[in-house]
Amino acid sequence: MPTPNPTQSTTRKRPPRFNAHRLRETLTTQFAKCLCSIFLTLLLIVGVIMFVLWLSLRPHRPHFNLASLSAASIASPADLANSTISFNVTDRNSNKKIGIYYDAVFGSVLYKDHLIGSGPVMFPFYQPPNNTTVIIADLAGAPVAAGSALSTELSADAAAGRVELRLELNSTIRFKVKTWDTHQHHLHVECNVVVGSDGSLLPESRNIRCPIYF
Ligand SMILES: *[C@@H]1O[C@H](CO)[C@@H](O)[C@H](O)[C@H]1NC(C)=O
Ligand SMILES: *[C@@H]1O[C@H](CO)[C@@H](O)[C@H](O)[C@H]1NC(C)=O
Ligand SMILES: *[C@@H]1O[C@H](CO)[C@@H](O)[C@H](O)[C@H]1NC(C)=O
Ligand SMILES: *[C@@H]1O[C@H](CO)[C@@H](O)[C@H](O)[C@H]1NC(C)=O
Ligand SMILES: *[C@@H]1O[C@H](CO)[C@@H](O)[C@H](O)[C@H]1NC(C)=O
Repeated sequence: MPTPNPTQSTTRKRPPRFNAHRLRETLTTQFAKCLCSIFLTLLLIVGVIMFVLWLSLRPHRPHFNLASLSAASIASPADLANSTISFNVTDRNSNKKIGIYYDAVFGSVLYKDHLIGSGPVMFPFYQPPNNTTVIIADLAGAPVAAGSALSTELSADAAAGRVELRLELNSTIRFKVKTWDTHQHHLHVECNVVVGSDGSLLPESRNIRCPIYF
């Protein structure tokens, strides 16, 4: 009987073949679900470990404090170009395990947003963890045009015994976390200071914290 055989065999075989297919399908989805949950659990564990590592290794920014500043020629703006503005800033890295690489540091002193002194301050250096580095520099004075409004205002402020200046330091830093280095951050420090007619710091500006901007 050659003719009924194929139909019989197909009708007889169809249900088990269909079941096996379904079984294989549910097994596959269950395997995928299992794999997925294992993967998600691993991801969660890795995430928690990374978060704890980040919390314990998170770098703190350095702290800058102004110890002294002197602009001896402040009372005679015409002489500024031929004088220096000196300062002493302490730079504290409070991280217990993280060192900081600094690029060259550049300094500027501004009076009413006008540059009255600038210059290189530090060569590139490495600051170890838990370290305070003293930054001392003499910046070259910049000319203030004699007879200009700025020169008149500066002389008047100096005569009144209160000149508000801004010392800015900029550099690029990288944190050294154990063996791997993090990416670069542009560092910008601003000390808002007040000097008297002799160009030295008024008591209110002594040992002030200088805010930093990344
Ligand atoms: C700079 O200031 C620091 C902190 O006050 C001080 O220890 C250091 O002797 C000063 N250095 C100079 C050269 O003035
Ligand atoms: C700058 O100072 C030097 C020495 O103190 C002096 O010889 C020179 O004439 C001054 N220059 C100006 C432009 O004041
Ligand atoms: C940090 O350094 C100071 C002295 O510079 C030292 O007394 C202190 O024990 C150090 N702290 C740590 C945690 O190393
Ligand atoms: C800070 O680090 C510098 C450079 O390594 C070192 O010369 C200086 O003695 C250190 N200061 C302290 C207080 O550890
Ligand atoms: C710091 O400022 C000076 C003068 O504005 C500029 O020439 C220099 O490129 C700056 N450095 C960084 C690292 O931003």
